[in-house]
Amino acid sequence: MSAGEAIDWGALKVAALAMQTRAYVPYSEYRVGAALLTASGEIMTGCNVENATYGATCCAERTAVFSAVAAGHTAFRAIAVATHGADAGTPCGICRQVLAEFSADGALEVVCFTPEGAEARYTLAELLPHAFRLK
Ligand code: THU
Repeated sequence: MSAGEAIDWGALKVAALAMQTRAYVPYSEYRVGAALLTASGEIMTGCNVENATYGATCCAERTAVFSAVAAGHTAFRAIAVATHGADAGTPCGICRQVLAEFSADGALEVVCFTPEGAEARYTLAELLPHAFRLK
């Protein structure tokens, strides 16, 4: 999968599901897996990592973004986010703002889904209109 090609949503979702098994969630037991498709076609992943202070917890989406940036990727086409239940969870506000840092036009495609069969698709601009930008 590389820039310009159709997005392989299946591959992205499989990667997000695999990440759910790595979630470190002793407090909420709410497993989240995220898979980011880079502009160059790689898939970078992350899971939520909780902390006894609660506040130091990092969401799956941010784990994926920070891992991707650390690996040299700053351009992204899409993100798949796997949660659980009858309704798919959407990225929290902080994660939306972090994603916006790397999606200046808000065109990043976001698919939120669960293994139970829920699925919803958005653009980042739909999820976070008027993102904060340093002018
Ligand atoms: N969580 C995420 O991983 N992504 C989100 O966008 C929302 C919440 C995690 C944080 C915490 O580990 C658990 O879900 C419950 O809030």
